[in-house]
Amino acid sequence: MKSLRGFIFVLFMIFAMSAFAVNGKDLYKKCVACHGTDGTKSALGVGAPLKGQKEKTLYKKMKGYLDGSYGGTKKGIMKRNLAKYSDVELKALAIYIATL
Ligand code: HEC
Repeated sequence: MKSLRGFIFVLFMIFAMSAFAVNGKDLYKKCVACHGTDGTKSALGVGAPLKGQKEKTLYKKMKGYLDGSYGGTKKGIMKRNLAKYSDVELKALAIYIATL
């Protein structure tokens, strides 16, 4: 019984840590080079600035890049950039960017 409790505790800790790992501010560090720390930069001279956009809009655009329904001439770059993120991470990114 004792070991089962220990096991459940460890599972809980892993779950709690993975929840904390999803931090939009940290994730956004990967975007700064092209979009700027404050989101005002026009990415590679073609992207619309992210600053001032709403969380829902940002999330929709990111999903759009992934399913091919959104984007301009350089959408391939964003598709590759976003491919590695989970849905939860994309949401965290959108929430953070909307606060810029
Ligand atoms: C290598 C440069 C580069 C990096 C890194 C990058 N982006 Fe982009 N991003 C672009 C370019 C270029 C566009 C415009 C692409 C297009 O549609 O033609 C863009 C467009 C976008 C847009 C849509 C803007 C709009 O209103 O049309 C969003 C949202 C976005 N990026 C989010 C992110 C996020 C979040 C990250 C980090 C995970 C990121 N980008 C990392 C280059 C980059």
